[in-house]
Amino acid sequence: MHTIGMAFSRYKSVVDALAADIRAGRLPSGARLPTHRQLAASEGLALVTATRVYAELEAMGLVSGERGRGTFVRDTALPPGHGIDQPAAAPDTVDLSFNYPALPGQADMLRRALRELASSGDLSALLRYQPHRGRPHERATVARHLKQRGLRIGADQVLIVNGAQHGLAATAMALLKPGDVVAVDALTYAGFKVLARTLRLELAPLPAAGHATDLDALAQLCANRRVRAVYTIPTLHNPLGWVTPADHRARLVQIARRHGLLILEDAAYAFLAERPPPPLAALAPETTVYVSGLSKSVATGLRFGFIAAPTSWVPAIERTIRATTWNTPAVMTAIACRWLDDGTVTRLETQKRNDARTRQSIARDALAGLPHIGHPASYFLWLPLPEEVRADQITAALLREHVSVSTAEPFATAAHVPHALRLALGSTDLDTLRRALDKVKRVVDDYTDR
Ligand SMILES: Cc1ncc(COP(=O)(O)O)c(C=O)c1O
Repeated sequence: MHTIGMAFSRYKSVVDALAADIRAGRLPSGARLPTHRQLAASEGLALVTATRVYAELEAMGLVSGERGRGTFVRDTALPPGHGIDQPAAAPDTVDLSFNYPALPGQADMLRRALRELASSGDLSALLRYQPHRGRPHERATVARHLKQRGLRIGADQVLIVNGAQHGLAATAMALLKPGDVVAVDALTYAGFKVLARTLRLELAPLPAAGHATDLDALAQLCANRRVRAVYTIPTLHNPLGWVTPADHRARLVQIARRHGLLILEDAAYAFLAERPPPPLAALAPETTVYVSGLSKSVATGLRFGFIAAPTSWVPAIERTIRATTWNTPAVMTAIACRWLDDGTVTRLETQKRNDARTRQSIARDALAGLPHIGHPASYFLWLPLPEEVRADQITAALLREHVSVSTAEPFATAAHVPHALRLALGSTDLDTLRRALDKVKRVVDDYTDR
């Protein structure tokens, strides 16, 4: 028993040491690792144990073994310090501030797709400019996909874009002008705030009533001011995880119609909700622009998104795509559409729903006793902090413990910014997530007791 225990802890410590070296960048992505035999010899392990070490690292998504070539460090981690929404953090910091969910095996999927693409079709066509909103057969693929989301539209209503953020930007540039008032939730997706500031839109924050936007407040706002649009995330709200009920959606549409509002419906995370009520774009197709993409269901790096819009607005949006990027890169579009057509996206959506559920239940356990808000199949949760606790103290204390989290500030559109944390659960392996959430719980408790 004792020797088995020793062997187990030895094996675990080799796994942990290699994992730490990979996460800290000491073993850079693409680096070839020792052969199983070399690892066994250098660490004093049995060959079968060395093989298990690599199997475990592979299951964690940190390495990939290629038959006949060896074992390589995967390029899975987002290098920190990328831009305004991704502040610099030490390389060994666990990222609970930003979601880029990826399942083990996705890099192999990409490898296969690239190989298939390389050996098929008219590759030279991909070297040329494409139609601004995507090729007709690719738009038809997206339209078929959107049927699963409850939208019955033709390919002529689809525009392919460089991710949902670009979809929001292209739509806002096309249909809104500086000074326009856009109603938004008091807590909403940070990227829309950045966009509004850039385009000089005025955001009018709406409070929440229960688990949805307060529609009385929207009706009141529209009665008092000229409101041009409402930006909303009815299915799997970021950051609060709502799925608004059908009657709430019907009333929102009623208000929008009465006051001539454009509805900008963001469905970036909608795939995580099982059997949600119909999207707003199905209820009010004449005044809703629906924006989503494959960042969260497949991979953020794909930069593949889509817009579904009323046909009369398509030319204006097409023009802003042309003005900003000409077209979404054809290689990415070809890969994304292949995955949409062959069922890969649907399969990944199911797997990620399950993965997100697992992460939420880890969070529920780890945060036991701390009230938090989140959907059971969501990749993030909202942690309101006790009255006496300041969010910036907590984030600073957590950074000292190598965990990065977001405060409410990037999500807040109203003057009052609540003391709260938004935890992104999707960007790290499950063990690391559990340990990082234990630290969150401990640090919040520490500051609460002071
Ligand atoms: C609600 C919401 N909309 C849009 C986006 C942007 O997604 P994409 O990577 O497709 O641009 C995100 C990304 O986090 C999001 O959370």
